[in-house]
This record gives sequence, structure tokens and C-alpha cells, in this order.
Amino acid sequence: MTLTQALQQSAHTLSVNGINDSHIEARILLGHITKLSPVQIYTRTEQTLSQEQERALHGLVERRLRQEPTAYIVNHREFYDIDFYVDSRVLIPRPETELLVDAALEFFKNGTCLPSPLLIADIGTGCGAIAISLALNLPQSKIYATDSSYSALEVARLNCEHHKVTRQVTLLQGNLLEPVPEPVNLIVANLPYVKSSELANLSPEITRFEPRTAIDGGENGLRCIRRLLEQAKEKISHRGCLLLEIGQNQEQDVISLIHSCLKNVSFTFMPDLNGINRVVKIDL
Ligand SMILES: C[S@@+](CC[C@H](N)C(=O)[O-])C[C@H]1O[C@@H](n2cnc3c(N)ncnc32)[C@H](O)[C@@H]1O
Repeated sequence: MTLTQALQQSAHTLSVNGINDSHIEARILLGHITKLSPVQIYTRTEQTLSQEQERALHGLVERRLRQEPTAYIVNHREFYDIDFYVDSRVLIPRPETELLVDAALEFFKNGTCLPSPLLIADIGTGCGAIAISLALNLPQSKIYATDSSYSALEVARLNCEHHKVTRQVTLLQGNLLEPVPEPVNLIVANLPYVKSSELANLSPEITRFEPRTAIDGGENGLRCIRRLLEQAKEKISHRGCLLLEIGQNQEQDVISLIHSCLKNVSFTFMPDLNGINRVVKIDL
């Protein structure tokens, strides 16, 4: 079977079984098996697959048909133009979370009299996507990255080693800000924010494969965010800032939480590309 045939056949199988973006997904799976780039796949039209490669591709397509996310099948996801290893121990980083990284870089760009090193805490780091993106873009920073899940931190460690930021990023296991040893200039967090009652409405890709502890935000979706706001005063330095990812339509609940947990702060919401208020920036 040629590359072109393999691509077309796999895309067709995925498409008739209801998988969206079937052509892109088939190309990613084929690229994983053959170790060829997208351009090579499209230009080496007559190159053939070995029988072993055909069998392997078939196996991956079968996994995808069982709703396993492609990122877990190929153990890779790009975030902020950086390649991350992912598996089912961690949430797959989402494009909308890149807004948190943009906002963090903007905060330091606009800051005057910045301390050295810049101290940052990434709370609920998962695979380390936010912490590592910040480390690579802010070489003068020191980052504490926490997670309650030991297995998530194992994945974050692999990514820190791969991107050579183990000296810059300190991984800490524990509840939210508790393990952070000193006040920081910036706290950034993408914590679970889906209401427990709404988990069943999510796609099987999420509910059957991604860690529930990465998604389930409790009764009103804001259990972790409330606790983080309660802890923040102790762990943030003078004129520091908090950047939190939130879910759709959570603004009013988040405003109430800010008023009840923090005094004399200003805050703004930042919309994502779909116009949804995705990040709240709280200045202390
Ligand atoms: C939505 S995921 C985000 C992962 C990563 N920051 C990202 O944006 O891709 C939330 C993460 O928070 C972690 N988490 C949940 N509850 C926590 C807690 N109480 N303390 C620290 N981390 C927690 C989960 O294990 C998970 O890795």
C-alpha cells in the first residue's frame, strides 16, 4: 500500500465512524508510524508501507475509533509552539490555555522595576506546558510548578528534562499553593473548573481517557479556584498578579469569590479567540 492509499483509507475509516478532522488525524497517525513529516507524506506519494507499518497503522486507527485522543496515541501535543510528551496521566494542553502564557509574558513586559529572578508559580501544572513555556520565554525566571498528582509530575519531569529547564523549574507535589516555599510575583493556574454535574456532557475522549482530577471542579466548578484565592495572599508578593483560566459563564461566580477571598484588588477578564472570557487577571 502506498502512503497516499494509506492516508486515504485511514481518513475514510475515521470519517465514516464519526471522527472529526479525519484527514488531519489520519495524517498524524501515519506520520507517527512512518516518522515522516506532513510534507514528506504528501510528496512521497508512491512510497510504500511495509507490512509491519500497515499493521501498526491499523492498530492506531482502531485505538482512535475507540475514542482514545490522538495526542495520547502518539504521545505528543504542541502547545505554544513547543512539543510536549503527554499520556493519560495528564490533561492534554488546550490551545485556549495559551492565553494564560500570553498574559503572563505581557505582565512582565509591562512591569517596571522587575525583580531578578522573576518568581512564578504554575499551580496544577499537569504535563508542565505553562511552566515550561514560561521558562523558555523568560530565561531570567524561577518557576515553582505544583500538582497534587504524583504521576502528572512524572510527566512534567520528562518534559522539563527534554527542554532542559530542570534548573529553572522546581516541581512540587501538594495541594495548590501549599508547597510553594516563598511569595512569588505571579501565580498562573489552569485548575479543574467543570461542574461535577456537567462531566457527563463532555465527549468520551475526555471522560474516558483524561484524568478526572484534572477536570472535575466540584459542585459549582470552582472548588480549586476558591481554595487558591484563599491561599493567595500568603504566597504573592507586593504588586503581584494572579492569572487564572476559567470556564464559560463563570465570571459572576468568580467575581463573588474574588470579593469574598481578597480585599483591595482590581481584576479584568480576558476573552479567548471565540470571545469567551477565559482568563481572569487579578492585580494585588
Ligand atoms: C486542567 S489540568 C491543567 C494542566 C496544565 N496546567 C494544562 O494547562 O494543560 C489541572 C491540573 O490541576 C491538578 N490539580 C487538581 N487539583 C489540584 C490541587 N488541589 N492541587 C494541585 N494540583 C491540582 C490536576 O492534577 C491537573 O494536573
